[in-house]
Amino acid sequence: MVSRVIPVEPFDLVIFGATGDLSRRKILPGLFRRLLAGQMPVEARIIGAARSDMDTDGFREMVRAALAEFEPACKTHPDECELFLGLLDYIPIDALGGKGWKSLGKLLRKEVVTAFYLSVGPSLFGEIAHRLHTNGIARPDSRIVVEKPLGHDLESARLLNRQLAECFAECQIYRIDHYLGKETVQNLMALRFANALFEPLWNARHIDHVQITVAESIGVEGRGGYYDKSGALRDMVQNHLMQLLCLTAMEPPARFNADFVRDEKLKVIRSLDPLKVGDTVRGQYRAGADGGSYLDDAENPDSRTESFVALKVEVENWRWAGTPFYLRTGKRLRARMSEISIIFKDPPHSIFPDMENRKGNALIIRLQPDEGINLRMTIKEPGQGGMRLTEVPLDMSFAEALGADVVVPDAYERLVMDVIRGDQTLFMRGDEVEEAWAWIDPLVAAWEEGSDRPRPYDAGGSGPEDALALLHRDGRKWREIEV
Ligand code: BG6
Repeated sequence: MVSRVIPVEPFDLVIFGATGDLSRRKILPGLFRRLLAGQMPVEARIIGAARSDMDTDGFREMVRAALAEFEPACKTHPDECELFLGLLDYIPIDALGGKGWKSLGKLLRKEVVTAFYLSVGPSLFGEIAHRLHTNGIARPDSRIVVEKPLGHDLESARLLNRQLAECFAECQIYRIDHYLGKETVQNLMALRFANALFEPLWNARHIDHVQITVAESIGVEGRGGYYDKSGALRDMVQNHLMQLLCLTAMEPPARFNADFVRDEKLKVIRSLDPLKVGDTVRGQYRAGADGGSYLDDAENPDSRTESFVALKVEVENWRWAGTPFYLRTGKRLRARMSEISIIFKDPPHSIFPDMENRKGNALIIRLQPDEGINLRMTIKEPGQGGMRLTEVPLDMSFAEALGADVVVPDAYERLVMDVIRGDQTLFMRGDEVEEAWAWIDPLVAAWEEGSDRPRPYDAGGSGPEDALALLHRDGRKWREIEV
């Protein structure tokens, strides 16, 4: 199967913080891959803007080195690589001062889409937005792109939203959650709303519970300074897991457009029962067979920051009342594995003797690695005398089903092209971000007030014992963390 690529219109994309890590690792290689895929017009321009005093040639050399390091295709496509480097420009700019803004204004073309990607620390978002506005650089149709952390609590998120709103309309603001750019996350919407099969069963009458797991095998990896102030709840749950929960639980939007989808997600967040501390578990990895302890990387040697969270979440609405959602995420776990598991109820009446030994029907949506869908079915065990039952998976891996020709764009590629197209469906709206913080904040406060430390778990394990108990006490069991 060959995927269709629709080229976007010419644009000027300004990347603030263009010399930084995210830009070098993700944004610029992603843009190069879009050029290879034929989606980027040759009239496009990518303008690096950063503090470093270099010229355009210097920037091109920096990007050449970044591509050589992070994008193997630049070796096999040297001509396209030169073409890409030719689209680059650079302006030294001082986000907090006057330098560079006039030159940037002059450089931008009036007749093409302009987008400003703020790949900088969140403390600069408001400043840059303000300077783009007061220097007359941003136009009413320009787009501004920001990425988490979008505040660290409700108050700071509101402040950030206000600062952006002073200079840009909501329809110009693109808040990235890179999980929404992942192909399988979007496929969750296709699975639910483009198939008649699941939707009639997608409710508390037929679903026993839902498990959402985002397990990472890596640790904090030198980001101890940031992570210690954040922890897994703010770093992963408030945004990525919340988005997965919303897409799983939301009502079908009347149309697939930005505000319809975001309205439905917002309704889910508003339906969440306040979290009870007793329904939450936080953990911190200690040295195990698979590596050192969290405290080796933490800034504070006595840190109580959680590198693991498990939550029992109740969505109080007609569709879900009585069906809990269990969320867990953690670093330094046994494997990198993200999935959404829909565990169905048993048939109302059993006519077979050994029904109770089954685990029952489950739909597993594997987000990473090896994206795919797995439906656990009960069948008759072959060849046995009598009616013995067994369980088998109906397993579909996207890579196998779609064929090797299909290149799935990575999340950033997809999202940056959506910015240029002016499609906000896969971006968070300001009210969504605020509601998510409003739900998280009381738990942060309760944890901070309490004297408990996070529960220890071994690096390379499955998380703390208490997380297992969170489901056991409800007569349920987490799926194994494995590849
Ligand atoms: C980031 C978090 O948002 O997502 C990181 O800050 C985390 O801590 C990362 O490792 C996970 O993303 P992915 O795409 O690798 O699952």
